[in-house]
Amino acid sequence: MSRPASVVALYPGSFDPITRGHEDIARRALRVADRVIVAVAYTSTHTKSGLFEIDERVELIQSVFEGESRIEVMSFTGLLVDFAREQGAHLVVRGLRAVSDFEYELQMAQMNQELNPDLETLFLVPEVKNSFISSSLVRQVAALGGDVSTFVSPAVLNRLLAKLDT
Ligand code: COA
Repeated sequence: MSRPASVVALYPGSFDPITRGHEDIARRALRVADRVIVAVAYTSTHTKSGLFEIDERVELIQSVFEGESRIEVMSFTGLLVDFAREQGAHLVVRGLRAVSDFEYELQMAQMNQELNPDLETLFLVPEVKNSFISSSLVRQVAALGGDVSTFVSPAVLNRLLAKLDT
């Protein structure tokens, strides 16, 4: 397969909410792709219960990357490989924070490879200071009154605190 003239990468996830760790991965993806689509997944098979509505997650991610013209934010439903085809994406980017991420990520990458052999998965490694962050931990710590200001951007922090206050 030849290298496309313009590389489009999809960065999928639940982003409930987007954290500094996700931001780190999306920005790293810009080093290898011309355009990055941050793709918020909502599928009937997704069993995680959410705090933010899908539209709110999209909005928050857009505010985080405001001014970054090469990052786009979308939501999708159904199979990732189908969405990638629709968007003309060549790469799926995922972050690997620790060995514990690896097994699940490898399985997803191989399933996606089987479903669409033209789509490559690329694993990127976040900075050490971002490697223990997860959205559910951020939600939990914030709900219990802990300070999460270093784990999420100010726009996300404000919305998170407002949400937990209601
Ligand atoms: N920084 C911070 N947190 C990170 C992170 C990073 N760099 N990378 C992953 N995480 C966290 C997330 O916050 C999330 O934490 P949480 O469980 O506490 O909320 C966790 O790691 C994993 O979540 P996420 O990256 O959002 O993946 P997911 O497992 O929720 O979703 C999809 C994975 C959406 C990519 C996958 O389900 C999918 O492709 N769905 C579409 C349907 C499909 O095609 N299915 C077949 C796939 S083979």
